[in-house]
Amino acid sequence: MKKKILSMILAVTMVAGLLAGCGNSASDNGGDSAEVKEDAVEIDADTSGSGDSSSASGDLQVGIVLPTKDEPRWLQDQAQFEKILGDAGFTNQVLFSQGSSATEKTNVETLVSQGIDVLIICAQDGAAAAAAVEAAKDAGVTVIAYDRLITGTEAVDYYVTFDSFAVGVAQGQYLIDNAPEGTGIPLYLYAGAATDNNAFIFFEGAWSLLQPKIADGTFTVANSSEAEALKDKAELTRDELGKIIGQVTTDWDFNVAKSKAEAHLTAVGADLKGDVLVLGPNDGTARSIADVFATDKDVTSYKVTGQDAEKASVQYVIDGKQSMTVFKDTRTLAADSVAMAVSVLNGETPATDTTYNNEAKDVPAKQTDIVVVTKDNVKAALIDSGYYDASEFTGLE
Ligand code: GAL
Repeated sequence: MKKKILSMILAVTMVAGLLAGCGNSASDNGGDSAEVKEDAVEIDADTSGSGDSSSASGDLQVGIVLPTKDEPRWLQDQAQFEKILGDAGFTNQVLFSQGSSATEKTNVETLVSQGIDVLIICAQDGAAAAAAVEAAKDAGVTVIAYDRLITGTEAVDYYVTFDSFAVGVAQGQYLIDNAPEGTGIPLYLYAGAATDNNAFIFFEGAWSLLQPKIADGTFTVANSSEAEALKDKAELTRDELGKIIGQVTTDWDFNVAKSKAEAHLTAVGADLKGDVLVLGPNDGTARSIADVFATDKDVTSYKVTGQDAEKASVQYVIDGKQSMTVFKDTRTLAADSVAMAVSVLNGETPATDTTYNNEAKDVPAKQTDIVVVTKDNVKAALIDSGYYDASEFTGLE
C-alpha cells in the first residue's frame, strides 16, 4: 500500500510535469517511433519493499490493450503509456490486438491473470469488446475505455476520449471553408470502421455542417447513394449513419481506402471530377485516398481531410498533398488515463467532466480538445509544443 501511495504522488507529480513540459524541448514521440520525450520528471520507482505491486512480485498494476501496431496513431499512444507509467513506478504492459477481437480478449485475460488492478483498453470492435471487459470486471479490475467507447455493457467504469464530434466538425468546416466557388462541387465521403463508435461520431460531426451544403446543391455527393438519399435530413439516426458508413467505410484500412477511392473514380463521369472535396476520416486513409486522387488526370485539384497528426501526414500537409489533419495530443489522453488509474489505485473516484451513453449506461468520461492543423500552423501546433522535432520533416518553414 505504501508503494501505491508513493506511486500516486510520483505519478501526479510526473503527469503535471509532463503537461507543464509540453512547450519544451525536442522529442520523437510519434509516428512509427516508440521513443518519447525525455524531459519528464525523474522518478526512482523502486523505493518500497511492500511487494504487492512491485515488478519483483511479477504482478502487474496497469494493463493496456491497443488495437493495432499497423497504424502510427497507436504507437504514439503506446510510447506515451510506457513513458508515463514507467516513470510513475507502475508495473505495466501494453498489448496489441492486431485487428482481432479474439486476440483482444486473450490479451485482456492474460493481463487479468497477471493481477492488474486497472485495464486501459482501446477496443478493436466496440461491441465485441464487451465480453472481454466483463471478464475483467468480474475479476475485480477497473475498466477505462480509451479513445473508443465500448458499447452495450455496464462493465466500463470510465472513458477517456478526445472530442470526436469536434473532429468531424473540423473536417467538415475545413472543406466548406476551402471549397471552390460555384455549385455542384463533387464531394467524396469516406468513413472509419463501422465497428468503431468513433466513426459514427466523426461522421455525425462532419454531416452536421456538410448536410446543408449538400441539401442546397452547393456540394454533390459523388460516391454514396445512401448519403444522397438522406441529404435533406439534418440529424441522422444511428441506423441512417450506419447505412452511409456501410457504403463508404474504409475499415480504417489504407488498402480498403485505396481500392474504394479507385473504384469511385472509375465509376464517375468527368462532371464529378475537376476540383473536388474529400472527407478523409483519418490520416492513414487520407494518404491512400490522396495518392489515388492525385494520379487521376481528370481531377484538377482535391482537398482532403484527416486526423491524428501522424508523422507521414504532417509531411503530406507540409507538401500540400493532404490539406489538413486534426492533432489529438496523445500525451494528454495517456496522462488523463494514468491520472484516472492513480485515483482508482488510491481508492478515490477519478475526476470526470462529462458522460457518454454506451447503450447500457452513462459512462463518466474525461474529454480532451482537438487542434486543427494546416500548413499554416504545423510549426506552432506540433513543433513548438514539443510533440515532434523539426528535424523529422522536410520543407518546414
Ligand atoms: C479512431 C481514433 C482515430 C483513428 C482511428 C483509426 O477510433 O479515434 O484517432 O486513429 O480510430 O485507428
